[in-house]
Amino acid sequence: MPFPIHRLRRLRATESLRGLVRETHLHPGQFILPLFVCPGEGVRREIGAMPGNYQLSIDELVKECADVHSLGVGGVILFGLPEIKDELASGAYDDAGIVQRAIRAIRQETPRLLVVTDVCNCEYTSHGHCGFVKDGDVDNDATLDWLAKSAVSHARAGADMVAPSDMMDGRVGAIRRALDAAGFAGTPILSYAAKFASVFYGPFREAADSAPQFGDRRSYQMDPANGREAMREIALDLEEGADIIMVKPAMPYLDLIAMARQRFDVPIAAYQVSGEYSMIVAAARNGWLDHDRAMMESLTSIARAGAGIILTYFAKPAARLLG
Ligand code: PBG
Repeated sequence: MPFPIHRLRRLRATESLRGLVRETHLHPGQFILPLFVCPGEGVRREIGAMPGNYQLSIDELVKECADVHSLGVGGVILFGLPEIKDELASGAYDDAGIVQRAIRAIRQETPRLLVVTDVCNCEYTSHGHCGFVKDGDVDNDATLDWLAKSAVSHARAGADMVAPSDMMDGRVGAIRRALDAAGFAGTPILSYAAKFASVFYGPFREAADSAPQFGDRRSYQMDPANGREAMREIALDLEEGADIIMVKPAMPYLDLIAMARQRFDVPIAAYQVSGEYSMIVAAARNGWLDHDRAMMESLTSIARAGAGIILTYFAKPAARLLG
């Protein structure tokens, strides 16, 4: 009989004992903050569904990045709101596009801040889908060319790493080949490998103005019911040359983060998406949850599951709290 010999409460008695036996520690350097860059000057427009997050013009973005860097946050991931959208997502792979210009501006002011770029087309197409639409659906292979061109133009502008989020088959390989051919063999790929067709992206679509104008993304993003298929997506992306793999969203998919951690000896990232953020902030604003504790517990759970890198809209407040 373990009791009364074994008393697990002994090591919970004081904060010093709890600290000594704590298994999971968060640090600001593991967070990546998503940022939204828009045209104009002096623009700092709060996103209604994501309080505390803004659409920023390049001048404001540069200031934000300096702030982020000084807090010790690991890096930023950029999303662009182009001036014009069209059928061909031209703004996505334009060397003078909004994200490309933003990268150059950040590089000048905070050269040591890690800058990752989201590689996708949904913010740039007039219909809001993640690729070239043919016969009412996204054409996989035609889209690969746009993605490869976008990734190369981001690298050329000075991005440290590119992160494809489109979920086309074969896109990691296509991007790897294009980067290598363009002289960017050293630019790593963070692949949104297991990305689900999730309702929790709702607030983001307001932030990035990227809601599909017809249908949904279920013909390319994963079915939330499928865990084994997620492992297959990850394995394929690694074969194609992904350097870091990501599970997205995070909290509803902790089982898959843990499963991936056991199976693959590569760095694993998780994206705590807009809806996960907004739920906590909304509950806190109603006085139903303590904001800081809910934030830290959610981040801790993601790290405990096995994600060493966390993309999160809480990056700044969490870094401040971790001091
Ligand atoms: C672009 C993209 C999306 C997100 C990241 N990259 C939206 C989507 O797939 O609809 C969602 C991020 C979030 O909700 O915070 N494809």
